[in-house]
Amino acid sequence: MGIISRLKNTSHLSGFRGLVARVLRHTANRIDCVDTNETKRANEFLAWVRFAVPGMLSQGNVDAMEYAIANMPPGKPILEIGSFCGLSTVVLSYLLQKLAKTTPVFSCDKWEFEGQQLGALLGDSPTMTHDAYQAYVRDTFLRTMKTFAANGLPYTIECFSDEFFRRWFENEETVDLFGRAVTLGGTIGFCYIDGNHTYEFAKRDFDNSDRALVSGGFILFDDSADGSKWEVNRLTREIASGHEYELVSRNPNYLFRKK
Ligand SMILES: C[S@@+](CC[C@H](N)C(=O)[O-])C[C@H]1O[C@@H](n2cnc3c(N)ncnc32)[C@H](O)[C@@H]1O
Repeated sequence: MGIISRLKNTSHLSGFRGLVARVLRHTANRIDCVDTNETKRANEFLAWVRFAVPGMLSQGNVDAMEYAIANMPPGKPILEIGSFCGLSTVVLSYLLQKLAKTTPVFSCDKWEFEGQQLGALLGDSPTMTHDAYQAYVRDTFLRTMKTFAANGLPYTIECFSDEFFRRWFENEETVDLFGRAVTLGGTIGFCYIDGNHTYEFAKRDFDNSDRALVSGGFILFDDSADGSKWEVNRLTREIASGHEYELVSRNPNYLFRKK
């Protein structure tokens, strides 16, 4: 019996265990719904990871990532812009392993969120602060990676993407978030852009990624689907109407391949 069927099959439990079972059944139903509607095959590993790791990753992105990793030019690193608690970073690491690729993943995030008010309380909580929230997300990222991507840790650089690219193009020698020495720079094979979704930022991320991306490499823009409220959709429609990139898919987010 699979994880989802097992979780659904808990209706006989009562009391506290019954309450827990109801929550699990609810989650299982959601996952089951995602599996049925959006994927062709259930992925038990990702189902378990999604139970434990908060994130904002659609199944369409997972499929697009798998396509990009399977088809990108060999030996080139992957870059992720915006990691939050690490759900998408785990998926990249997992897909590399699954597809027997040994190329490294680089990621950057400063864990400074839109609307964040450091020094202030979180909503109407009398005790919880934005600072504690930020520390929690950053710590969760570290723990997520050490738990679910121990054999394929990303080289995580704690900064926003503009600074990351500046350091990348300067071939900086640095130390990553996990304390490992690493030299930045060179070409990349795939970039997952999931940082600041305003047009201005997404465009700079695109221009910088494009500068580093090899011909035949991929760029996937999160939240770029047609109908998305994010300005990144305008950028992806512009790229699609240009001649430098082939639109591979909209699932529903835009995946491009550099010509
Ligand atoms: C939507 S979340 C990323 C979700 C993650 N990729 C996932 O699927 O679970 C956006 C993240 O981007 C980060 N961020 C925002 N602007 C950024 C930038 N310019 N460069 C890098 N990261 C950025 C935020 O700190 C936040 O953690």
